[in-house]
Amino acid sequence: MNQPEQNLQPIEELYDPNSLKYSVNPTPQCLALAKRGKLVWYEPWQAWIMTRMPDIMDCWKREYLSSDFYDWEFAPQRPPQDQWSNFERALIGHSLVADHDHHRLVRRVTAPAFSRNVVDAIQKRIEPDVQKLFDELGEPESFDYLEKIAQEIPFISITRTIGVPEKYWPQIKQVILTFTETWNPTISDERRAKAREDSNQAIEILKQVIAERRAAPVQDDFLSVLLKVEEENDGFEEWDIITLVLALIGAGSDTTLVAQQWSVYALLKNPGQIPAALETADSFSNAFSEISRWSTQSKMGFARYAPEDMDILGQKVSKGQMVLMMPHLKNHDPEYYDDPETFDVKRVFNPDVLFGYGPRFCIGAALAKRQLYLTISELFKRFPNIELAEEPERDTTDHNAITFTRLMLKTNA
Ligand code: HEM
Repeated sequence: MNQPEQNLQPIEELYDPNSLKYSVNPTPQCLALAKRGKLVWYEPWQAWIMTRMPDIMDCWKREYLSSDFYDWEFAPQRPPQDQWSNFERALIGHSLVADHDHHRLVRRVTAPAFSRNVVDAIQKRIEPDVQKLFDELGEPESFDYLEKIAQEIPFISITRTIGVPEKYWPQIKQVILTFTETWNPTISDERRAKAREDSNQAIEILKQVIAERRAAPVQDDFLSVLLKVEEENDGFEEWDIITLVLALIGAGSDTTLVAQQWSVYALLKNPGQIPAALETADSFSNAFSEISRWSTQSKMGFARYAPEDMDILGQKVSKGQMVLMMPHLKNHDPEYYDDPETFDVKRVFNPDVLFGYGPRFCIGAALAKRQLYLTISELFKRFPNIELAEEPERDTTDHNAITFTRLMLKTNA
């Protein structure tokens, strides 16, 4: 590709986020990549990397690149609409990747479903589930936080958020979380086929749940709010509800799982800051931004696709090429943060872009932070003397985040 500089160290040696070295300490690689330029061609992924925050913010804000996976030059062929199963309808005809106008309509009309009252009500429903998880755990000498708590949270929070009645839980648990895999460009055809089958089943269950909810709406429940939105807004239909719910599953499962692990790890590595972090839901909200900055978990950042041949930051980008925005490169850069190696839960973030920026700002930000606060405060309430039992081994297989193979904690109870 047209990388102008000659005789530079190969880019994949400079930045290799699937290496163990990156998983253990991503900072040197992030800083080296950012130094390489504003828009850097990354040969192994056949993608451009956008490295600087003002450019990333501008791209987020103006949306001059596409968010539609099917606009990628290497995406599987977009099948004709008359051959779509529910799965294709959810993935391709997605209300959040649809044209900008429809996306904005969906965001505007669904805003009430994410209001403070609804988040409070959902939180109240999740609380007993979290209590139950810890009750079932009992008081062991040590346990794997990942297996016993973190892995259970995405399913609980998704079903409670949407309002899927418990009678459907065993059925839907089998199929619902695979939907996240369908977004992953690197999975095998067999796995994609299985994910497609599962997603079709999940959609059937969702349709059944929606039909029941239409017959008997309840207050403050995400589905009920969306059904009301549907009633009041032309252009917002049942299919928008289904795709939105699937988007929540897609965007809200892995992120939550990763956030759980790193929040516990970062606080246990910096125990002096636990009281300030957990003082209130608001203090945790800021602490979580610091946890995410300090721990840098991301590998790929956020993908966009060139809708046409274009000139971006002085480079010729061809139609269909992937552009990865990488805000995580700034996390330990002294140009952005004073004293970046210090973990300080009171650090001021201005602006705070952990949940994105502009029209595609994370829908689930409030829910994610409250649910993390709930679980992690419960952990420290139950086990005030808890410590890491070992330095957790990094799992290098996740395509987009640094995760742990297990997170063993010693309760000292
Ligand atoms: C710690 C957890 C989370 C983090 C750090 C996070 C971060 C983000 C970021 C940075 C974006 C913008 C992505 C881009 O520009 O391409 C985003 C979008 C989104 N997030 Fe989250 N998220 C989290 C949890 C959740 C949860 C729990 C949900 C659902 C309940 C959710 C739903 C969404 C949706 C639907 C979008 C797409 C919005 C749109 O395109 O209009 N996220 N998230």
